[in-house]
Order: sequence, then C-alpha cells, then structure tokens
Amino acid sequence: MTNKNLIDLEVMSTEQIDKIIKKTKKIMQSPADYRHACDGKILATLFYEPSTRTQMSFQTAMLKLGGRTIGFDNPMNSSVSKGESLKDTIAVISGYADIIAIRHPIEGTAMAASLYSEVPLINCGDGGHLHPTQTLTDIVTLSCEKGRLDNLKIGICGDLLNGRTVHSLIKTLSKYQNNSFVLISTKELCVPLYIIDILEKNGCKYEFSNSLAEAICDLDVLYMTRIQRERFKSAKEYEEQKNVFVLDREKLDKAKEDMIILHPLPRVNEITVDIDDDSRALYFKQAQYGMYGRMALILLLLQDEDFLIPSRSTVISEHRCSNPKCITQQESYLPNMSYEKLGMTMCDFCDKRIN
Ligand code: CP
Repeated sequence: MTNKNLIDLEVMSTEQIDKIIKKTKKIMQSPADYRHACDGKILATLFYEPSTRTQMSFQTAMLKLGGRTIGFDNPMNSSVSKGESLKDTIAVISGYADIIAIRHPIEGTAMAASLYSEVPLINCGDGGHLHPTQTLTDIVTLSCEKGRLDNLKIGICGDLLNGRTVHSLIKTLSKYQNNSFVLISTKELCVPLYIIDILEKNGCKYEFSNSLAEAICDLDVLYMTRIQRERFKSAKEYEEQKNVFVLDREKLDKAKEDMIILHPLPRVNEITVDIDDDSRALYFKQAQYGMYGRMALILLLLQDEDFLIPSRSTVISEHRCSNPKCITQQESYLPNMSYEKLGMTMCDFCDKRIN
C-alpha cells in the first residue's frame, strides 16, 4: 500500500529520497521557474509545539511556490483549547487545505493525524520520536556539501535519547552504504534501543563514546544537538545533563579540515559562538537548504502522481501501546495499530515495543 503522507523517511527507498534531493537541487538552481508551481494551493501549518525553522521554512516554501498558508502556532488560540480532538481538527482542516504540516509534543501524533486527513500530511516533529523533514534538510546539506550520502563517518553528539532529529537521521543514513556512526552522549541520554536495532539490521558499524574531544578526530560529519529541556521529568535531571558536551575551539582544532559541523538548531550553548565563523560550521546554511528541500517535498506530494510513499503492513493488535508518551494514551478512539519487526510487536504510532 502507498499514501501521500510523510511520517517517517524510513519507509522510503533510497531512490525516492534521492528523487527529493534531485528536485531540491533543480529548485535551488532556478527558483524563479517554480514561482507559480502551487498557485491556488493552501498549506496548513498546525504547530502544537514551538518552532522557528520548520514552521517558517514550510510557510516560506509554499509562498515561494505561489501558494498560500493558514494555520496556528499556539493551539491555545484554536479550538484545541476547548477540548477538540486531534481527529476532529484534522478532519476539518483537511477540508480547507491541500496539504498539512503538523508538529506535536506527543509521540506518534503525525501518524495518528494521517488516519483522518484527506490530503497529504507531513510530520514536522512528534515529541521525541521523529522529525523527517529535518533529516531531509540534513541530507540535502550532506549531498551538496560532502557530495555523497554514503561512506561517511558521522558523529552524533548530545541528547540522543530525546532528539527526534537524531532518530530520523540515523534511520535514513543507515540505508546508505558504508556509513558508520559514533554515538556521543552520556549513558542517560543514549539512543533508544529501537534505533540500535535498526543499525544492527542495516549492518552499520557504530560505537559509543562519552568524549567529544576523542571522538572528533576522524569524523567526516559532526552532528551536534541540544539537550531537550522540555522532555525531562525534572529541572534537576536537565541541569545534570546540560553543558556536558560543548564544541569549542580547542576540540574543533582536533578535527579534520574537511569535517563539517551540522546542528538542527536551535542551539543553546553546545557550540560556542566563535565556531560560527569557521568554514566547517554549516548549521545556518543547513537551515536554508531545508527551505528548498521543503519546496521539493511539497511539489512532489502535490504534483507528482508517481511519488507515493510506502505504508508499513500493520494489523490491529490486541494490546494497547503502554508508552506513556504515545498518542494512543491521549486519544482513546485510536485503533491499536501495530507491525512486526524482528519477531517483536511494535506500536505503529510511536515505534515502541508493545509486549
Ligand atoms: N530544527 C528545528 O526543528 O527547528 P525548529 O524547532 O525551530 O523548527
């Protein structure tokens, strides 16, 4: 089965991902050619959680394509504040807009929303789970700046547990040949087990490190991330984790001359500001690549009939997902959808093991 919703890049083939990158590069070469590509079309941006880049780059992308935008960036100014369910909100908005971009603090919400949308729906971040269009941003940057998506040694540093951009990036880059990963974090903020399962399944080399200064020496890419304060149970736990890993001049001096530094942003203080002027620091350029990537994605979803996204084969499970951060715990009407992986039953919304 296929659909037009981008929930997780994992279900896409590398050929499909490469098609988005190719389209992005065409748009970057000649943006004026696309000025009227989406005339008359409307994008709805439904942001239940704060954003600068993702929301505004989607809005800018649609405006640059000649379309228009509607939406909210504070659900308390919408009927969500009166208790409207996700299902009802999506059913209504999909009658107004041609395409929906949604961000939500709860894992699995984009998948849940897609069940009730009549138009293509894009996951712009669902809790600490996934952020596929950030990964699109990251891989467009890698393709343009490193010239390849394979044979890379990628260091990923910071909050690997809660950082949804990390999960989407590893899932996607592990599809490409001969990539290896250095997972730099404290033991408390290590990547979830299901991400390790994916690395194993795809035969990728990976190692753990608790020293950025040691790990940086032979990396091709350093992907820094913020410690996600909003996902911690207490201020004390956050305080213990913040500032453990900071990229500064002394550490960067140990890196290769052609290593590139990426960061999904926002930065708090995990990269010192003096690094911004180093030619290897590409995080602001990365954000701009993201806007072009989102233009390509909107075009492919709205206009290319052959651009269909595969669906996982799911079943209705007897058991409900017990992950307290999963949308199935909040919206009682959702079915218990699951899929099988490596002999385990996984929740189709949040990807956590069900039993
Ligand atoms: N990278 C990213 O998702 O940034 P925003 O939270 O500002 O959208």
